[in-house]
Amino acid sequence: MNILDQKFAEFHELPTEEKIEYFSKNGRLFDMIISQQLNREIIDNIYEITNRIRHISKTRAGSFFLQNILFHKRVMLYFAQPSSRTFLSFENACHILGMKTSEIRDARVSSEVKGESFDDSLRTFSSYTDLIIMRHKGQDMAERAAWLMNTRTNRPVPIINGGSGSDQHPTQAMLDVYTLQYSFAKQGGLDGKTIMMCGDLKRGRTVRSLSYLLKNFEDVKIIYAAPQAFQMKEDVCSFLEKHKIPFHIETEALDNVLSEADAIYMTRIQDEHDAIAGESGKTDTSRFKLKPSDMTKIRPSAIIMHPFPRRDEIDVAIDSDPRAMYWRQERNGMWIRAALIAYIFNVHEEILNY
Ligand code: CP
Repeated sequence: MNILDQKFAEFHELPTEEKIEYFSKNGRLFDMIISQQLNREIIDNIYEITNRIRHISKTRAGSFFLQNILFHKRVMLYFAQPSSRTFLSFENACHILGMKTSEIRDARVSSEVKGESFDDSLRTFSSYTDLIIMRHKGQDMAERAAWLMNTRTNRPVPIINGGSGSDQHPTQAMLDVYTLQYSFAKQGGLDGKTIMMCGDLKRGRTVRSLSYLLKNFEDVKIIYAAPQAFQMKEDVCSFLEKHKIPFHIETEALDNVLSEADAIYMTRIQDEHDAIAGESGKTDTSRFKLKPSDMTKIRPSAIIMHPFPRRDEIDVAIDSDPRAMYWRQERNGMWIRAALIAYIFNVHEEILNY
């Protein structure tokens, strides 16, 4: 372990509240690393900006206006793990705001293959750009990048976590909650709703970030539906208990709880995290898939979500059901990410006043 590894390990052990301070500057959101950084005021503010950007983008004049907002800023998209949605939605969000983008989509084309460390690579990206948006297969690497910027560089740039290991994916949770609020707009929003999450809850970073973010809403209930081997980890369950958010664990079958949910959030098995290749396949997940015959058991007002990519957790025949919200959900990601970037750069008032 080198000196940086030791110092980061000390930082990593700090209480979450101290880290949240650390990821802020002048009392404002600077880095976006974990869902716990977001309170209701920030969430509502970002959703208001999202709605404005969506609306303004509809016209040519509006698009020109938005493209001037961050015309002077450059962004690095460092995606050292495969991505379709997060990469493309962030790239297009940056373009909506006029930012110039650079990218590394595969660590094999970075000087990391010559032995350069992650830390040196990140410092290099920050030499040329004003924001780093990153995805990494390693645990806590976005947190490490933010720590590195704040302690080891003269030119710290904000870090946005586009998915780190099996830990968190906070901007996915932001677009998920936006989709929930939008879908339930005529039913009082997300407050008072029951959200069921199904699939690989143990290693799914989207469901972890979403669970943390739900703390900001009133009377929300959670159902975790997965075989025991893929059930939600203790850290998230303890968080929910601490914040008095009721949750129910279902390990037998999705069928048992389908009718109780206002939102059904399906996820795939994250077998890229298998310690031994193929070990996920040893657990029977057949009773945790959504089939066309299940649609009569789901509430008429319920919505079906998925962060994607999917395999066979949701039968494609369900795509044409009006309750299937996952295609709209992924498009929402572009708007919400543009709003988040505008908020971090503190240019959102211009957008709200347009
Ligand atoms: N939801 C999500 O993170 O998708 P990608 O892996 O395609 O970015």
